[in-house]
Amino acid sequence: MIDRRTLLATAGVAAAGLAAPHLARAAAPFRQPPLPYAEDALAPAISARTVGLHYGKHHKAYFDKLNALVAGKPYAEMELEEVIRRAKADNAVPVFNNAGQAWNHNFYWQQFKDGPAVPPAVLVEAATRDFGGIDPLKAKIVEVADGVFGTGWAWLVADNGKLEVLGLQDAGNPIAEGKTPLLGIDVWEHAYYLDWENRRTAHVKALLDERVNWAFVGDRLAGASPG
Ligand SMILES: [Fe+2]
Repeated sequence: MIDRRTLLATAGVAAAGLAAPHLARAAAPFRQPPLPYAEDALAPAISARTVGLHYGKHHKAYFDKLNALVAGKPYAEMELEEVIRRAKADNAVPVFNNAGQAWNHNFYWQQFKDGPAVPPAVLVEAATRDFGGIDPLKAKIVEVADGVFGTGWAWLVADNGKLEVLGLQDAGNPIAEGKTPLLGIDVWEHAYYLDWENRRTAHVKALLDERVNWAFVGDRLAGASPG
């Protein structure tokens, strides 16, 4: 028998046309999804050691803190995306930060693969329309990632079908901005410093050229496009 939460999650995923159903699924307590590949799959852009720490310590800690914060509160009955929206509206900063980071990292691990990928036509067309091509789009993502001061994320998003690149501080999340995330580059130092030290730019370029699963990004865009 399907429970209410699973039913809502499934309906939400279907409505959003998402490729990866568990991105939107939640449970009380909220549970960290499994890593979708081996810890060494993203090397050298992200080493096995960094993946192990980032997934096993940092990402896990956001779930642990979120579950402690929401225990016994209405947030515990919501989907994770709804927690993000409601916590922002409520100005519940610790809940927003930990729910946002839990979701952001769920997304982060889903968007990579163990080798280079060719951007699909739907993404090439949109990138050409909005940025002049895939390479200028990548350059914009690198520029925005460079421009995030301190901790945060560079996000490629769809807003009514149009591509945008946003730099958001700390646990910033496009869902809270009413936009659809397509790709999220974590530029907290825990994401790259063991491997690349201060060379954030080189790390981001390596991800974009060698480890982003552009088919995932294209599927997200196709699901987000109006009409
Ligand atoms: Fe992170």
